[in-house]
Amino acid sequence: MATATWTRRHVLSLADFTPAEYDTVLQTAASCQEVLSRRTKKVPALQGLVIANLFFEPSTRTRSSFELAAKRLSADTLNFAAATSSLTKGETILDTAKTYLAMGSDMMVIRHREAGVPQAVAEEMDRLGVRVGVLNAGDGQHEHPSQALLDLFTLTSLLDPEYPRLKLLADKKIAIVGDILHSRVARSNIWSLTASGAEVHLAGPPTLLPKWFGEWGVGSGEWGVGNGEENGEIGGWEDGFSQSKIQSPKSKIQNRKLFVHWEIEPALKEADFVMTLRLQKERMTAHLLPSLREYHQRYGITRDRLKLCQPGVKVLHPGPVNRGVEISSDLMDDSDFSLISQQVTSGVAVRMALLFLMGSGKPV
Ligand code: CP
Repeated sequence: MATATWTRRHVLSLADFTPAEYDTVLQTAASCQEVLSRRTKKVPALQGLVIANLFFEPSTRTRSSFELAAKRLSADTLNFAAATSSLTKGETILDTAKTYLAMGSDMMVIRHREAGVPQAVAEEMDRLGVRVGVLNAGDGQHEHPSQALLDLFTLTSLLDPEYPRLKLLADKKIAIVGDILHSRVARSNIWSLTASGAEVHLAGPPTLLPKWFGEWGVGSGEWGVGNGEENGEIGGWEDGFSQSKIQSPKSKIQNRKLFVHWEIEPALKEADFVMTLRLQKERMTAHLLPSLREYHQRYGITRDRLKLCQPGVKVLHPGPVNRGVEISSDLMDDSDFSLISQQVTSGVAVRMALLFLMGSGKPV
């Protein structure tokens, strides 16, 4: 497996990922996919390492695929669930992370409803001088890097299963449709897909797609900022770290092909791929939509709407899906169009690749 270009200890954001790093992840994931096609789907690459899955927010795909990925690499896993943990007795996030450090964790996979928590834990590990890698498994509205990397792997391995690489998307048009405002998946995908040279067209209602996504790019200081009212809840900001620590390099989105549309048709016109996003009702602090029915009528992905796209268009959705809202139910299950199952399958290989790259330099 390739590791030559890998020097990154933590994976917190794709904002500063280089083309070489994307290609290293893609090629390592292709090797992992080959391992997963064998009769014995397990290699000893991370034997002796401990990976802690610290999920402070619910998850099905990300949590399970990180756990399976770790097991396929022969690592030992520790699984934490906020509701049954000592967070309920007042323990802080950083003290929780330090507890898992004291048990010998070599890597921590962290999901939290607030942007910046994985970064804060990574900074604490660095301050303590310990070689613990932190992976962001989704933080608030900020980023979900492993999701965007598995999306990238799904797309590029469709185009070249033997040699998936970033530049395969250079001349493609990709539409991202729906609740962009609240989506960490969209933000990470904007970084990776525009880095490939693809044309990325965002479409959604004005309440869910502020114009500044196009004017300032995803690097504006406004994104990733959560709702202050959430402070003080279990798993909140009692450690005193600040979301202002999240800094996205504004300049890097410049000169990339990113467009904003409040109507869906221009985004879909001749698109090669369509990524539709879940309406994140849990993150909406006001009534941003007239009704789910009207949303589906105006922005839902249907067979009729796909006629605007290139022949052979494929549809992605990170899941979980609100069937019949973001995408019509029959289309979701139609493997001629839908890549949703492939995305889930890719998730194991890509998360194996990330754990391998971050963990293989560690002495056991
Ligand atoms: N796509 C995604 O992050 O799904 P889960 O919330 O189920 O992990």
